[in-house]
Amino acid sequence: MSKHTPRVFSGVQPTGNLHLGNYLGAISKFVTMQHEYESIFCVVDLHAITVPQDPKLLKAQTREIAAAYLAAGIDPTKSIIFQQSAVSAHAELSWILSCQARIGWLNRMTQFKDKAGKDKEKASVGLYVYPVLMAADILAYKATHVPVGEDQKQHLELSRDIATKFNNDMGTEDFFPLPEPMIQGPATRVMSLRDGTAKMSKSDPSDLSRITFTDDADAIAKKFKKAKSDPEPLPSEEEGLDGRPEAKNLVGIYAALSGISAADVLSEFGGQGFGALKPRLAELAVEKLSPISGEMRRLMEDTSHIDGILSQGAQRADDIAAPILRDVKEIMGFLAPTS
Ligand code: TRP
Repeated sequence: MSKHTPRVFSGVQPTGNLHLGNYLGAISKFVTMQHEYESIFCVVDLHAITVPQDPKLLKAQTREIAAAYLAAGIDPTKSIIFQQSAVSAHAELSWILSCQARIGWLNRMTQFKDKAGKDKEKASVGLYVYPVLMAADILAYKATHVPVGEDQKQHLELSRDIATKFNNDMGTEDFFPLPEPMIQGPATRVMSLRDGTAKMSKSDPSDLSRITFTDDADAIAKKFKKAKSDPEPLPSEEEGLDGRPEAKNLVGIYAALSGISAADVLSEFGGQGFGALKPRLAELAVEKLSPISGEMRRLMEDTSHIDGILSQGAQRADDIAAPILRDVKEIMGFLAPTS
């Protein structure tokens, strides 16, 4: 048994265009988790700048994620909501851990290969070491559980490798916990409405591919109506979704939004066509998302309130991370400043 107290850490990038995938895959899970674990939810602005960002937009987008956390139901008096760049331990620990991580490990990261595009020489060094910063985020709090989407699993494994190497090489056995990914429930991976094999993404050129928090009821209905499907009726059993990525995605979204299993969705809709599922899906999405987007808009009108929550959160986060960073520096052999 690990000596470490259970603690959840996760983060969302403030890159704009918050969509249904972010909500179902991450934020809605955070809301449930905060009741079971001590939880820390970060707006990872240092990660956002691995690709160019407009400084003014970055501020607005940072507040937007904080507003989404709050509107979705994360309680800032219970959980910690804060901005990554406000706690220096992230950047400091990231450097130390980058001296543990091996180039070979980073070379295996598939997300870098996808994001860097054809000309890898032109990608920022930050984009390359992105997963090390993510390890620092988690380990700065000795977090034990990390709710993430399927696509972040490889980064989590790297965090575990880095923690293991640090513990072994520095002879500190159990200093860092080995963080566990928490990938559960339907729709951990929400796919594009235009292509069931691609992740729903803010950077997809087609606006029809995603449901965003700025969509009104008409836009949501239209996007589901136009969502790619196939000519077969829906199956009555989950196995019938194999090889039908669009059907699988729509059923998964329905299940996640209604809080039931995919099997239950199919026992209701099995044998019927998408013409039956899609309007119900749109209704359900509007019912779930509109109170949240309404509340987000309301919160965004009072930026000083959001900023206040973020700075209180940063203070509380720093209270946890600073002593851990102090221990790391001691372990590394850095002289402690005398006061
Ligand atoms: N890389 C994550 C994503 O894009 C965001 C993230 C940054 C994160 N640091 C983290 C998630 C630490 C969990 C824990 O989704």
